[in-house]
Amino acid sequence: MSPSHTPHRLLVWDLPTRLFHWALVILVIAAWFTAEMSDDLMDYHAPLGYGVLTLLLFRLAWGFVGSTHSRFSDFIRPPGEALEYLRDMKAGRPSPYLGHNPLGGWMVACLLLALLAQAATGLFASDEIMNEGPFYHLVSSETGSLLTQAHEMIFNLLTGLVALHVCAVLAYRLIKRENLVLPMITGHKTLQGPGPEPRAASLWLAILLLAASGTLVWALVVLA
Ligand code: HEM
Repeated sequence: MSPSHTPHRLLVWDLPTRLFHWALVILVIAAWFTAEMSDDLMDYHAPLGYGVLTLLLFRLAWGFVGSTHSRFSDFIRPPGEALEYLRDMKAGRPSPYLGHNPLGGWMVACLLLALLAQAATGLFASDEIMNEGPFYHLVSSETGSLLTQAHEMIFNLLTGLVALHVCAVLAYRLIKRENLVLPMITGHKTLQGPGPEPRAASLWLAILLLAASGTLVWALVVLA
């Protein structure tokens, strides 16, 4: 086999990004469960929301200083590039990407923004019976009820985005025969032939950023 065709294992998703993703999945599902399934579980809903917010603040920072393919600059491409990728995909010849492809990159951006809006509106929400977010008392009751409605509506949007996201992952598996889930677990993808080695960011930096994000959320909630 010529060196240009030697399979090459590359670390595409660093550990912090993988832990972020699966922790996010667990917390979002648990937050939905505690809000929808029983009033008794509502006490856990806000702490789960603070957890989601902590993860999101961490991920926003990691998007600037994380490993190569975790950076926003790697996957938020001009919209024209995303449309070109869509055209190429329809024609059955999409270019391969190690990280998020240009279309997937916009999907990730939408997911992160919707999750951020979901968590932020929750801080101001109230069911006007027993449960209210820590910032609810800072706004008028009209604004509070508007933000509560927004919190519920954004969740519907988020459900749609997550469904689309999971369908896209399944379509890759069934149509392109590419397993995207395994790399989100192990971190690795195999490249046929040589390619630039992604730059790995420090794990200590990730721990520091996660601690800073958690402290910020804790301070916001306690001081409100
Ligand atoms: C609450 C549900 C979910 C949410 C909110 C969510 C959110 C996200 C986000 C934000 C990313 C970008 C990761 C990053 O760059 O930091 C991502 C990527 C990814 N997610 Fe999910 N996800 C969810 C469920 C799932 C499920 C159930 C699967 C498995 C079927 C999955 C598989 C993946 C994969 C494979 C990627 C990488 C896609 C690629 O290679 O470009 N996700 N997800």
